[in-house]
Amino acid sequence: MDPDAVELEARFTTDEIAEAVRRIAAEISRDHEGQVPLLVGVLKGCFVFLADLVRELTVPCEVDFIRARSYGRGTTSSGAIEITKDVETDLTGRHVVVVEDIEDTGLTMDVVVDRIRSGHPASVRRCALLVREGIGGTLPDYLGMEVGPGFVVGYGIDYAERFRELTDIHAVRGT
Ligand code: IMP
Ligand code: MG
Repeated sequence: MDPDAVELEARFTTDEIAEAVRRIAAEISRDHEGQVPLLVGVLKGCFVFLADLVRELTVPCEVDFIRARSYGRGTTSSGAIEITKDVETDLTGRHVVVVEDIEDTGLTMDVVVDRIRSGHPASVRRCALLVREGIGGTLPDYLGMEVGPGFVVGYGIDYAERFRELTDIHAVRGT
């Protein structure tokens, strides 16, 4: 589908997103009292969420990034995931929070968490702004909202690299 031709349907407003971000930040701060957690954002979709999240924390933190790519450019994930940019921080003994935009199958998160664990952190927790309804397995430790069917965009999340700049979250009609 041509990104210039897609129609968008509203899913979450800036107010709903901001409320979820504040709640998640409070939970992360509570769980990391007295610590300096390392927030590892999964590029590129995390960049708006992570920027808002760190500014709501009440504990000091550090930030790093990892990039995972699933092959293909469409709206479905192929299941084959490679890490194309690794973290640069020494993870030994760190309290890590992996920050994702959306978990669909959860495969990307699993691959990233495995990679983080191999660096011998003290703890690894998972954070996702959105999780697809009916996702199998365990939910992330920190979760914003569940989202129904439909490919979502906005608030950093893209369709074919477009729509990241939108402040609300929308679904692409017909997906
Ligand atoms: P998963 O590995 O199936 O959980 O998919 C994870 C990655 O696919 C996420 O990091 C997103 O970047 C991307 N993704 C999954 N669903 C959507 C969506 O609805 N819109 C945009 N990107 C998505
Ligand atoms: Mg992503």
